[in-house]
Amino acid sequence: MEKKLEQLLNSAKLEIEGVQTTKELEDIRLKFLKKNGPLAEILGSLSQLPVELRPTVGKIANQVKIEILELLEVKKSELEKVNESKKLNDWDPTRPGRKLPLGHRHPLTQVLDHIYEIFKNFGFHRSDGPEIESDYYNFLALNFSIDHPARDAHDTFYVSDDLLMRTHTSPIQIRVMQSAQPPFKIIAPGRVYRHEAIDATHHHVFHQVEGFLVDEGVHFGHLKGILDVFVKEFFGQDVETRFRPSFFPFTEPSAEVDISCIFCGGNGCKICKNTGWVEMMGCGMIHPVVLKNCKIDTEKWSGFAFGMGVERIAMFKYRIDDIRMFYQNDLRFLHQF
Ligand code: DAH
Repeated sequence: MEKKLEQLLNSAKLEIEGVQTTKELEDIRLKFLKKNGPLAEILGSLSQLPVELRPTVGKIANQVKIEILELLEVKKSELEKVNESKKLNDWDPTRPGRKLPLGHRHPLTQVLDHIYEIFKNFGFHRSDGPEIESDYYNFLALNFSIDHPARDAHDTFYVSDDLLMRTHTSPIQIRVMQSAQPPFKIIAPGRVYRHEAIDATHHHVFHQVEGFLVDEGVHFGHLKGILDVFVKEFFGQDVETRFRPSFFPFTEPSAEVDISCIFCGGNGCKICKNTGWVEMMGCGMIHPVVLKNCKIDTEKWSGFAFGMGVERIAMFKYRIDDIRMFYQNDLRFLHQF
């Protein structure tokens, strides 16, 4: 019996030594240690031995079992180590990396960046202003007198008697012109606030881009030229512009810029109410009163200004019919840009 056990241990040793894979190792474990395997058989036949031999043989049988288990364990960790180093040897640093899921810029930011890029190429510089403004910058200095009816159109959120959420980006004109000397070529993007009911085309928070240029001998022709080139750069060379007389307290003369409807190419559709034109922005020559409020010599300097709604432009560009989509952060929407 003892001999048998010794043989068993030796053959287990031999087999375990020759093993190459964890699968083979598992097969050997089963072969020697399974319920009806050779070791179990020996243990089961102990009862046939003379009583005085049983404890010794039983002990040896258990030792053999423990030894086989240990051999299996040692071999297993050896194999694991080999596998690890194999993996390392397979590692090829020249293989292309796995792509990380990156986010991307919001469609409004993309439109803003595009507008900014075009004006940067015209030589404009960027300025910013505060979102909480005083009545002076938002209205008074822009030639809206205290009781000017045009104030009504701005549906203002007041923070206090004198402070308000800016209703447009035009106050940046005043801030820039009061803090430096002309000439100016400025583009000023920003968030603006109006106390309006929200629907498909209105929101109480939206974005505008303000632009203005002050230099010697600037006239309306410059304004028309620059905005026409801008529109063509932004929407495409076949898009036309048209200037309609309008009114803003801070420009004289003032105009509204229409572009040929990009939905129907100017043939007439629901969006352009069959006119072939859609309204795009306000503009005009900076009112002499505004220049004087900024201590600029109107004999020497003149300028033009314009302001456009970013959401509106993004809606045209991407054919979006509901302004609320921009703020809902629905990934199914955002992933399309
Ligand atoms: N600030 C105007 C608005 O919010 C837009 C505007 C019109 C800006 C004409 C200008 C301009 O600079 O010249 O309605």
